[in-house]
Amino acid sequence: MMRRIAGSLLLAIRRVGLWRRNIHVALGSRVDRRAVIGDCTRINRASEIGNCTIGAYCAIGGRLVVRSTDHYMGYPNIQDWAQVKVIGSDVAVAGKSKGEVVIGNAVWIGDSVIILPGVTVGNGAVIGAGSVVTKSIPPYAVAVGNPARVIKKRFSDEMIALLEQVRWWEWDVTTLRASKEFFETNLSEATVTEVVTLLRRLGMNLTDASAEGG
Ligand SMILES: CC(C)(COP(=O)(O)OP(=O)(O)OC[C@H]1O[C@@H](n2cnc3c(N)ncnc32)[C@H](O)[C@@H]1OP(=O)(O)O)[C@@H](O)C(=O)NCCC(=O)NCCS
Repeated sequence: MMRRIAGSLLLAIRRVGLWRRNIHVALGSRVDRRAVIGDCTRINRASEIGNCTIGAYCAIGGRLVVRSTDHYMGYPNIQDWAQVKVIGSDVAVAGKSKGEVVIGNAVWIGDSVIILPGVTVGNGAVIGAGSVVTKSIPPYAVAVGNPARVIKKRFSDEMIALLEQVRWWEWDVTTLRASKEFFETNLSEATVTEVVTLLRRLGMNLTDASAEGG
């Protein structure tokens, strides 16, 4: 009983913590307590999130499944509960990991996506609905299908390099609001030079390398 109350209390404190950082995780989701979720990320429908890191400002649809572990396939039994409770073995048959899943910042994940162990999804990437992501996806790539393949990039390589330098998701709210013009610019129709000029006018300190694109 006490355990259940302590559990509920922890859950309530965690939800308040998420709310204060503008994070929304849909009711009915199961989130590993080690998972880290960045500010302003929204998981819009119930999802199953294993141990992973999700960046800030991500738009995540429903039924996302993030798995950070596999079962060991070399033993006769592959089911961990039976291995411990029925067979009485200390030899783990679950928990094998190719590495933690890392989802970058400002990523859009469509509905019903599965992300498998060891995958990194770069900043600004888009994962199409129903995709199974088995390999890492580069920043600002659009990937779809099972297994997910990159079908295009959202922007030119130069624009992507600029955005990777700008890292707007780390700005404070005052800076974000003062930079509204940047967020209202369609980057797929602008040149890097135009965007660099705009950012400098807004007070951003950019290295010269970022101004070299066309
Ligand atoms: C990934 C996505 C954004 C791409 O949109 P788009 O840029 O307009 O791409 P297109 O529709 O032009 O499709 C390009 C190609 O990819 C294919 N494709 C697009 N989305 C796909 C998907 N989810 N799975 C498999 N293939 C997909 C198309 O069939 C097309 O293939 P073709 O070139 O052989 O004809 C979109 O298809 C998608 O999946 N959106 C997610 C919607 C969603 O889940 N919303 C929930 C709210 S968060």
